[in-house]
Amino acid sequence: MKHYNAVFSAFHTIYRLTTSSSSIRNFSIGVCKVYKSVLNADEVTMVCTHVDSYPFLRISLKDKHLSVKKGGVSILTQKEREMLNQERDATSKKTLVHAFVFSSTLGIIHIKRKPEKEVFTDIEKKYFRSLCESVSIGLKIFHQYKEENKTVINYIKSLTNLLGQYDTTSSLHVKSLSRLIKAVGKELRLTEIELRSLEYASLLHDAGKIQLPTDILTKQKRLTNEEFKLIMKHPRKGVELIKNLDFLKPAIPIILHHHERYDGKGYPSKLKKDQIPIGSKILAVLDAFDAMFFGRPYRKKKQLESIKKELKKEIGKQFDPKVIECFLKILDKKNIRRFLSASDK
Ligand SMILES: [Fe+2]
Repeated sequence: MKHYNAVFSAFHTIYRLTTSSSSIRNFSIGVCKVYKSVLNADEVTMVCTHVDSYPFLRISLKDKHLSVKKGGVSILTQKEREMLNQERDATSKKTLVHAFVFSSTLGIIHIKRKPEKEVFTDIEKKYFRSLCESVSIGLKIFHQYKEENKTVINYIKSLTNLLGQYDTTSSLHVKSLSRLIKAVGKELRLTEIELRSLEYASLLHDAGKIQLPTDILTKQKRLTNEEFKLIMKHPRKGVELIKNLDFLKPAIPIILHHHERYDGKGYPSKLKKDQIPIGSKILAVLDAFDAMFFGRPYRKKKQLESIKKELKKEIGKQFDPKVIECFLKILDKKNIRRFLSASDK
């Protein structure tokens, strides 16, 4: 009965991991812990295929030591490579192997007991197979989600390319921006959804300019009041373009308010301080940084030190003090400096 309760709770944990894990890495670590405890295993290893930008993720839990590796085929043992190719389960007295196969292999899990321990019983082998069925559903969901995400990103990239052809001042430098967003997000402890929405918003924030007359967008002289009133419409026009796309909904407030100012003198809603969404506050800083660091057709590039001074001047005026404090910290990091100087070449 005690064992039955443990297995029941293991199923529940796997279900919870499937619905709440923020990444396939966390999901797999959780799964390995469940197998280790419910099947009294000494070693649990899970390999997932085609994850993010690397081909394999390998999680191994041996006694109390956890190892997480990501990379190519070289991170796998010879045996694991064979298991992946064979695409089938294998059991021996002290080893259980399951291959997660749908149209292709999504991964494998293998668990082991030490030689001095008891062999796996038939009922334990049955539990193992049933748990694997639950895990395979989780893996399938993660893979589908990844595929959908790729489609979304490609869709956004094509929208951004279109915008870039129309108005070169509106497209930020995607690669460096994405790196900076991740760094700011980590520092300000944004959630994964906030981070993703910020990334989408950073690509599309000026999409509304597509609907503005080109002569205003490309004008080198100072804009008249009437022209500036038209420019001020671009956040709302941008939102109009994407409002029916469900996956972009969390990015809408960020896009709508990316020209608000901390002191309330921005547009379109004259929001101030904490009324402004955090994503919009970050995007405002990144937008200003991008314009100064990479330059614009009408504005020369600036050196990092003078950009820092410019940003500091706007603390409490255009920008949120907390966001600037965090951004300046990031700009002082050696790896970010190296990355920026390489992307400026
Ligand atoms: Fe804008």
